Amino acid sequence: MSKSKTIYFCQNCGNQSPKWVGKCPACNEWNTYAEEIIDKDVEKLKEKKSGYSKKKNEDAKPVPISEVHELETKRIDTRDTELNRVLGGGIVLGSLILIGGEPGIGKSTLMLQLALKLKGLKVLYVTGEESDRQIKLRADRIGADNDGCFILTETNTQQIFKQANELEPDIIIIDSIQTVHTVYVESTPGSVSQVRECTAELMRYAKESSIPVFLIGHITKDGMIAGPKVLEHIVDTVLQFEGDRNYTYRILRTTKNRFGSTSEIGIYEMIGEGLRPVLNPSEILLTQRDEELSGIAIAGMMEGMRPFLIETQALVTPAFYGTPQRSATGFDARRMSMLLAVLEKRAGFRFGTKDVFLNIAGGLRVEDPAIDLAVIAALCSSYNDISVSSKTAFAAEVGLSGEVRAVSRVEQRISEADKLGFEKIFVSKFNQKIDTKKFNIEIVYLSKVQQLMEELFG
Ligand code: TYD
Ligand code: MG
Repeated sequence: MSKSKTIYFCQNCGNQSPKWVGKCPACNEWNTYAEEIIDKDVEKLKEKKSGYSKKKNEDAKPVPISEVHELETKRIDTRDTELNRVLGGGIVLGSLILIGGEPGIGKSTLMLQLALKLKGLKVLYVTGEESDRQIKLRADRIGADNDGCFILTETNTQQIFKQANELEPDIIIIDSIQTVHTVYVESTPGSVSQVRECTAELMRYAKESSIPVFLIGHITKDGMIAGPKVLEHIVDTVLQFEGDRNYTYRILRTTKNRFGSTSEIGIYEMIGEGLRPVLNPSEILLTQRDEELSGIAIAGMMEGMRPFLIETQALVTPAFYGTPQRSATGFDARRMSMLLAVLEKRAGFRFGTKDVFLNIAGGLRVEDPAIDLAVIAALCSSYNDISVSSKTAFAAEVGLSGEVRAVSRVEQRISEADKLGFEKIFVSKFNQKIDTKKFNIEIVYLSKVQQLMEELFG
């Protein structure tokens, strides 16, 4: 007997309630509840399986852990250094990978490029967003071809599984999760219950067939993957594709990975022929300049296991109108305010009457605290209008009392600066266990920001 039931879902966190409520008791958001219809068809639910037809739906049996291990670690090489890195060394068979990002950032391009690169493997690219002709146009632009790349314009999950069973691909790509729908839920595609149910079905399919599945997911303006957060709990791996649309650089960041580290990033450049992996990030993140300019300092950064150097730029000007302006791009504005306060209190600078602007080159967002010292150097350089040598780098955190604190993996940071021909690097005194003989670069140890001022501006 078929029976439909309406349930109210919070569109923010996926919480459900039999009645409409104004404020979600789970995530405290207002006006997020929307009505959705759940098909309570008992018969349908009974026969609901993953859709994978090859194996009979046998009952699961206990397996020795040694054998499970064998299966799990089988990975497909993506032939893309950056993607391999963020996935922890390739695509794990049977894994479900979510790629989130704002519209237009390049998710479809990245996935199509992957499909075209995997020559010799069969890839099923399911699209509910664009026509096959649009995909073909994009493929022409990327300029690669793969006879094993198949395009399917379909949005019904059961149909997708049917086609996949026939084709037997090595990888499935779903563009996007917000456009697919399942017959078991009656609400519209993109709604919380649809997205969740489709993801769960795809997860079952991936696990039973051992075919890895990539899901493309859109991100709402506040940075959440549209649909509920629960989506992130279901999938094995979450990759965020981010970057400033006005710049050509794109960062692929792992935010969850059941098969690898979550602190890895991949860097791409969007060019006319698709996305180019950037193998040496330092080169693009340091701007070329002939003359020494004030307000610029280079930070020795780590993203995941990879060191690179990045330029921090500051502009400090007299404030003429009322409250001075504070603006930071790519850096936490509150952290900048804190560093300004430290400079006021500990080093005698007067930022209270100045407008302060801070920018991280390349449209990158930096969270590594080791950038603090470079930020301080850039701010004071602009304040004093005295340039910092372009052959000098900085790698240390700064604390509230103006102390210069040690950072992790300092040797890797020093080594990267050394490789790129830097002559001097400022680090914390507490990073003492450094084997200085290995490097040509001069290492200067600091314990207080005042010392930095003396070193830089005499
Ligand atoms: P797209 O992959 O469609 O983004 P998403 O799927 O995340 O919405 O990428 C769209 C942008 O990428 C679009 O503005 C055009 C640009 N682009 C290039 O610059 N070079 C290329 O080779 C391709 C294919 C796209
Ligand atoms: Mg797209």
